[in-house]
Amino acid sequence: MAPEKLYTPKRVPGKKEFYALNDPPVGALLPTDKFPQNENAPLLLKPITIRGTTFHNRVFVSPMCQYSSDNGHATDYHFVHLGQWAINGVGAITVEATAVVPEGRITPQDMGIWADSHIQPLKRIVDFAHTQGVKIGIQLAHAGRKASTLSMHLGASVIPGDHQAPRNVAYAEEGGWPDEVYGPTDAPWADDFPKPKPVTEEYMDYLESAYLAAIDRCKEIGFDFIEIHGAHGYLIHSFLSPLTNTRADKWGGQSFENRARLPLRIISAARAAWADKPLFARFSATDWAEGPEQSSDGLWKQWGVGQMKLLVGELKKIGVDLIDVSSGGNWAAQKIPKLQPGYQVPFAAAIKEAHPDMTIGTVGLILSPKQAEEILEEKKADVVFLAREIVRSPTFVMRAAEEFGAAVKPTVQSERSWTRMLHPKSNMTPV
Ligand SMILES: Cc1cc2nc3c(=O)[nH]c(=O)nc-3n(C[C@H](O)[C@H](O)[C@H](O)COP(=O)(O)O)c2cc1C
Repeated sequence: MAPEKLYTPKRVPGKKEFYALNDPPVGALLPTDKFPQNENAPLLLKPITIRGTTFHNRVFVSPMCQYSSDNGHATDYHFVHLGQWAINGVGAITVEATAVVPEGRITPQDMGIWADSHIQPLKRIVDFAHTQGVKIGIQLAHAGRKASTLSMHLGASVIPGDHQAPRNVAYAEEGGWPDEVYGPTDAPWADDFPKPKPVTEEYMDYLESAYLAAIDRCKEIGFDFIEIHGAHGYLIHSFLSPLTNTRADKWGGQSFENRARLPLRIISAARAAWADKPLFARFSATDWAEGPEQSSDGLWKQWGVGQMKLLVGELKKIGVDLIDVSSGGNWAAQKIPKLQPGYQVPFAAAIKEAHPDMTIGTVGLILSPKQAEEILEEKKADVVFLAREIVRSPTFVMRAAEEFGAAVKPTVQSERSWTRMLHPKSNMTPV
């Protein structure tokens, strides 16, 4: 006779395969009755609820294009790349800029969501993140006039002499579509980039329906949130900026209202379609072009914080839940005066000050838990998005907990690697 069973491991309910249940979810603070030190936990590790969705901490993974998709489809590479942050308990994972139409990809290797066949590989990643209790969303994008280019792997390797592409444009032989690139006008992003076709009203209708179809797929996939990509010189940013949107019709020119018309149309449609779950939007807060945002005679000269504040006022009316504040990417001659840790935080802080009731995310050279915590404590933002640092340190959340003397949930499988953090302490000094 078999011996009596002493212990049955808890498993994630509803899954055919065995996944060990983490309760609380990975990355969440452990209960204070067992871990009294969590009474003084840092804000960075505290949950935040946005439109009914609770993110277990405020360390959000920023979207990062990997230029590794197979005709828009996520592969096992993405499963591992994104899955690493699920088992390490971040507050949210944002899937890279994902094109709503094929010609809206930056490169032929970008992620896409224009076809039903894109659903399954993304759903596999999302389902896995959910087995760990980690929230995952996707950035929906159209690259505008920066589309049909060769990927970073080919065009901008940081290793001298490695993979240097002879040019920026991806031609048909490389899977590109340089004759089907769209922008506010026919001005290219830079001399050696494709010449765009000005977006027509028919194209706007098609674009709106493409975003809506993508959102339907996001629902089927089970994403927890969507971020609309309105930054870095892609289609939406290029419409917002007076430097690049010099159209003479109601969709552009000097008037802020005209330049914001298409972006607001897309975002309103997205809000209506994605009614119950958080909708984020990422924008650049400046073009980093020379000179002021507005001249002394009141003319808008480049995109900047003044217009961002106006835009956020409109986005509040629409019901956008979080503004993710980045910068640049729209003007080839941009000059960032000083690239230093937290260099984009002042933009987030200015927008937070103007719109204290809006949830604000900040990004850019956020390198340590202490730096991130200070930003939140000083109310410059509500969450931090990390890109390169969380690639270097996928265990950022656990390390933050260790550093602050707090205790968050690691996966049951990795508990033995975090015994120091998991030691209950009653005498922790407040952070
Ligand atoms: C490899 C890589 C890919 C990126 N892809 C995207 C993207 O898909 N969408 C986006 O909005 N920003 C993208 N970015 C910008 C990052 O999300 C982030 O805003 C920027 O790197 C600054 O943050 P960091 O200093 O933490 O890296 C990318 C950055 C890197 C390094």
